[in-house]
Amino acid sequence: MGYERIKAVLTKHKQVKKSLMEYRKFGNTDFNGSILGFGAMRLPVTDNRNRATIDEPLAGKMIACAIEQGVNYIDTAYFYHEGESERFVGRVLKDGYRNKVALATKMPVRLPKSHDDCNRILDEQLGRLQTDRIDYYLLHGLNHETWPNIRKIDIFTWAQRAIADGRIRHFGFSFHDDFPTLKEIIDAYDQWTVCQIQYNYMDTEYQATTEGLNYAAQKGLSVVVMEPIRGGHLAKEPPARVKDIFAEAPKPRSPAEWALQWVWDQPGVSMVLSGMTAMEHVVENCALAKRASENTLSAVELKLIARAKEAYRELCPIPCTNCRYCMPCTNNIRINRIFELYNDVHMYNDTRVPRMRYGQINPEQRGDQCIECGTCEDSCPQNIPIQEWLKKADELLAPKKASNK
Ligand SMILES: NC(=O)c1ccc[n+]([C@@H]2O[C@H](COP(=O)([O-])OP(=O)(O)OC[C@H]3O[C@@H](n4cnc5c(N)ncnc54)[C@H](OP(=O)(O)O)[C@@H]3O)[C@@H](O)[C@H]2O)c1
Repeated sequence: MGYERIKAVLTKHKQVKKSLMEYRKFGNTDFNGSILGFGAMRLPVTDNRNRATIDEPLAGKMIACAIEQGVNYIDTAYFYHEGESERFVGRVLKDGYRNKVALATKMPVRLPKSHDDCNRILDEQLGRLQTDRIDYYLLHGLNHETWPNIRKIDIFTWAQRAIADGRIRHFGFSFHDDFPTLKEIIDAYDQWTVCQIQYNYMDTEYQATTEGLNYAAQKGLSVVVMEPIRGGHLAKEPPARVKDIFAEAPKPRSPAEWALQWVWDQPGVSMVLSGMTAMEHVVENCALAKRASENTLSAVELKLIARAKEAYRELCPIPCTNCRYCMPCTNNIRINRIFELYNDVHMYNDTRVPRMRYGQINPEQRGDQCIECGTCEDSCPQNIPIQEWLKKADELLAPKKASNK
C-alpha cells in the first residue's frame, strides 16, 4: 500500500472520527501516553537473514504514519536490528518528529562494568538517536541473573546523575523473569517510573504475571506491555479449534484485535507496544487504538478468549516468542525459525509445509548441528531448554528422518 494512499484512507477515517487514539496517564509521571506505542524491534528488513538491513523507506513511512495517527512513544534498544534500530529511529525523528514523541531506549545490562562504561554507552546511544535526551531509559531485560550484576555497579547513583545532567528524564527497566524477581527489583528503588513486561492473554501466569502487573501499577509505575500479540503468533490465521471458538463471538474481530484489545482492557496497563512489521499492521493497530478503552470486552467475549487460550495451550509446545535473544547462535543454527516451524506443526496440525520449509534451511543451520554450548539458553528470556527442543524439532522436521515417519 503506497503511503499517499494510506494517508488518504486515514484522512477519510479522521473525518468520520476526528478524535485521536486514547491516551493514558503514564504512571506517576506527567506524560499522557498513547495506548499504542511503536516498538522498533521488528521493523521490516530487506534481507530476512540479516536484521541490520532495515527497509528504511517503508519503516520510515510506518513510523511517520503511526505518529500522525497519535502514537507518541517509540521504543528501541541498543541491540535491536544489530544496533541499526537506534540509528534508524534517530534519522526518522530528526526532522521534526522528535518533539512529538517520548523516546525510550535501553541500556544493555551485560556490558557496563563501571559508571564510565554506562556514560560511554548512553552517550553512544544519544549520538545514534541524534538527540540530547532519552525520555525513558530502561535497563534492558532484567532477570535474576542480570539484576544483581547491574546493581553491583551502583546503577541508581549513576542514573540519578544522568537525570540531573539532563541526558535521561526517567529511569526504568524491561523485564523477563518471574514475579518474585520483579517485586524485588521494584522494591529496591523508589524512583522507578516505568517497567516493561511481557503480557498477553496467553501469559497471565507466565513471567511477571497478572500479579506483577498489578503490583507495578499499584506502586505508581507506568506499565508498558511488550509482546501483546505474543510476537505475532496470536495474529496468525488461528488453528481450526481457535477459529471455531472466536466464530461464536457476537461481534467479529481480527486475531490481532482480540489480542490487543484484551491487553488494553486490563486495569493497570499504561501502554501497549506493538512491533509492527508492515504498513497494514500500523493502519490496523492505530485504528484499533482509536476505538479501544478499558473494559470494552463483554463477559461473553472474555470467556471466548479464555477458551481460545486453552485451545492454543494444548497445541503449542514451545513457548518461544521469536524475540531472537538467542541469536546469533554460536553455530549459526536458525533457532527461532526452527521453533516457529515446530510450533506451526502443532498449532496448524500440518507437517507438510513446516517440513518443506525446514528442508529449505541450509543443512548446516538445522537443529542437528547444535554443539550444545548452551549460550542460547543463557540469553533466552523464556528459559526454554533450547538444546533439547532443537533435537526434537530436527527429529520431526528433517526431510530424511521425516520420510520414515
Ligand atoms: N525489552 C525487551 O526485553 C523486549 C522484548 C521483546 C519486545 N520488546 C519491545 O516491545 C515491542 C513489542 O513487542 P513485540 O514486537 O513482540 O509485539 P507483538 O505485537 O506481540 O508482535 C509483533 C508482531 O505481531 C504481528 N502483528 C502486529 N500487528 C499485527 C496486525 N495488525 N495484524 C497481524 N499481525 C500483526 C507481526 O508479526 P509478523 O511480522 O510475523 O506478521 C509483528 O512482527 C518490540 O517491538 C520491542 O520494542 C522488548
